[in-house]
Amino acid sequence: MTDHQTSLPPYSTYAAYYDRSGQIRFAVMMDLYLQELLAVHAPPGRRLLDLGCGTGSLALLMAERGWQALGLDRSSAMLREARRKAARAPHLPVRFIEGDLRDFRIDTRVDLITCCYDTLNYLLDEHELEGCFSAVARVLRPRGLFCFDLATDYFLRVYWNDVSVQHFDNVTLIMESHYDERNGLSTLLLTGIERDAHGAEQRFREVHVERAYPDARVRELLEAQGLRVEGVYDCFTMQPPREQSLRLMYVARAGEATPA
Ligand SMILES: C[S@@+](CC[C@H](N)C(=O)[O-])C[C@H]1O[C@@H](n2cnc3c(N)ncnc32)[C@H](O)[C@@H]1O
Repeated sequence: MTDHQTSLPPYSTYAAYYDRSGQIRFAVMMDLYLQELLAVHAPPGRRLLDLGCGTGSLALLMAERGWQALGLDRSSAMLREARRKAARAPHLPVRFIEGDLRDFRIDTRVDLITCCYDTLNYLLDEHELEGCFSAVARVLRPRGLFCFDLATDYFLRVYWNDVSVQHFDNVTLIMESHYDERNGLSTLLLTGIERDAHGAEQRFREVHVERAYPDARVRELLEAQGLRVEGVYDCFTMQPPREQSLRLMYVARAGEATPA
């Protein structure tokens, strides 16, 4: 048995299991939901940047819909999966780059920036969120849209504060989440066990830390960067947030004059 006791950075080893453990479902749902949102909040064109693109599923689905898509992520292992999928669909206008969403620049301006599935919850203080919003404001075209979700404090504190075990193929994933009331951080210890044909086990461990942000503060930070909030929804609906919303979806728009 090989046991890597020391924790690896998030999304290093997990990347190879991410899609087949079912996480790919989120991007499939988000792709459909985005079509509803974009019918109400029209983007000025069809160039997309997906921040924290992970294994690239959303960028690929949007490229299939005719978007020129770019995915950015800091995990080289997640990007490897994304590029492997893109190589199977060489006709699609999609590419993937390594970068940090807290401060990034790209060589073109885009009409839509997405950032989905808790990705912004991985930013652990307001300065990091501010850095991301400022970079978004720099990269959006005039009247470009920024659509992102955030897991709520209720989700991390009540719903996610749990242990779950998942089996698929010859793999077991154990997720132990703990919400710390003192600092508002939710820590997930992810243990993966894979058995080979002879029953030998390979183990890995990753630690993922997330935090939630109050809705009012998120709106202030967006507006401070000139990103006007057009809508905040109980995610996957077109309804306003509820007290027990698990996830909120934000739609913010750049002004007519965007920063140089
Ligand atoms: C929960 S996954 C979501 C992936 C993808 N958006 C999806 O819907 O499946 C979070 C992703 O955010 C990325 N991420 C977290 N913090 C980041 C940062 N500071 N810069 C770039 N990517 C980051 C991780 O590497 C990971 O791929």
